Amino acid sequence: MAIIGKDINLAKEFLQKRQLVAIPTETVYGLAGNALDEEAVLSIFETKNRPSFDPLIIHTDSLEKLKQYVQEIPEKAFLLAKKFWPGPLTLLLPKKDIIPDLVTSGLDTVAVRIPNHPLTLALLSELDFPLAAPSANPFGYISPTTAAHVSQQLGGKIPYILDGGECGIGIESTIIGFVEGVPTVYRLGGLSIEAIEEVVGAVGLMPHSSSNPQAPGMLKSHYAPRKPFFLQDRKTISSTYDQATGYLLFDQFIEGIDRKYQRLLSPQGDLKEAAHNLFAYLRELDAQPVERILAELVPNIHLGRAINDRLKRAAAVD
Ligand code: TXA
Ligand code: MG
Repeated sequence: MAIIGKDINLAKEFLQKRQLVAIPTETVYGLAGNALDEEAVLSIFETKNRPSFDPLIIHTDSLEKLKQYVQEIPEKAFLLAKKFWPGPLTLLLPKKDIIPDLVTSGLDTVAVRIPNHPLTLALLSELDFPLAAPSANPFGYISPTTAAHVSQQLGGKIPYILDGGECGIGIESTIIGFVEGVPTVYRLGGLSIEAIEEVVGAVGLMPHSSSNPQAPGMLKSHYAPRKPFFLQDRKTISSTYDQATGYLLFDQFIEGIDRKYQRLLSPQGDLKEAAHNLFAYLRELDAQPVERILAELVPNIHLGRAINDRLKRAAAVD
């Protein structure tokens, strides 16, 4: 079983030996390996059961280091990086040859970000290679937001989990690529579109599709609990209550339903709090003795858009 601890030097030793370490970030935990070493990258795909056509994000701690990995940083990308890094933003940039094709699934762009977590930034500053790190969950399951989540699912497969506590944001980074120079959203995430548009103006939105090779991460069925998972509006939920169901709700309990099986993402109606709780509560409901989980959508603004995106993908609806 993986050791869980806060020892950056130990994490570094494992990584230098081509082994994998789970790392905390402000979004979700990552399953990290040396991004420049094909053997380590291959073992990331194997450990997660991830198909090789789904490329990885590389993590570093400075723009200086980043220049070794990408050919250029377009002006709008630079503005976003200056404003939001370290933070929940991933940029797609033209890669240099030093980044193995395995990392990018053969695409000529590489996904990069500087994460905002003190332990992981300290670790990265000690390394002379970037870390490839997808979310530290088996492919298709809910992303982990605590060291315990990682341990439950991948603990038997990796030597070390760097424990940085609960992830503050709780939902993956927003991915921005550049389509003919226009900043384009490849994945909604922990940085709101509203915040991005304040810096670079209107952005495009990449349609998600299971057959879109440019955005394999936009696979429809994703982030799913094991129990059958459905979206429903409040009215229907209240009128069809049955005891074998768990309920994931935004800010108000439904009367007449056992509260043990209800989770409120944010009693205050705060979308940041809702994002922070989303994956942990999905896991909790998945572990309850219920046969199915019903969820309602949240207001579709700010982080609510990323939350709704995850809920729809968990239910595999458009
Ligand atoms: O917050 C996050 O981004 C977390 C933490 C650990 O940093 N990482 C994460 O990685 O969510 P992952 O592997 O679960 O999701 C990365 C997504 C994938 O859906 C992948 O398809 C997309 O990024 N991606 C990576 N490289 C890409 C590229 N060159 N073009 C388009 N999409 C890319
Ligand atoms: Mg993931």
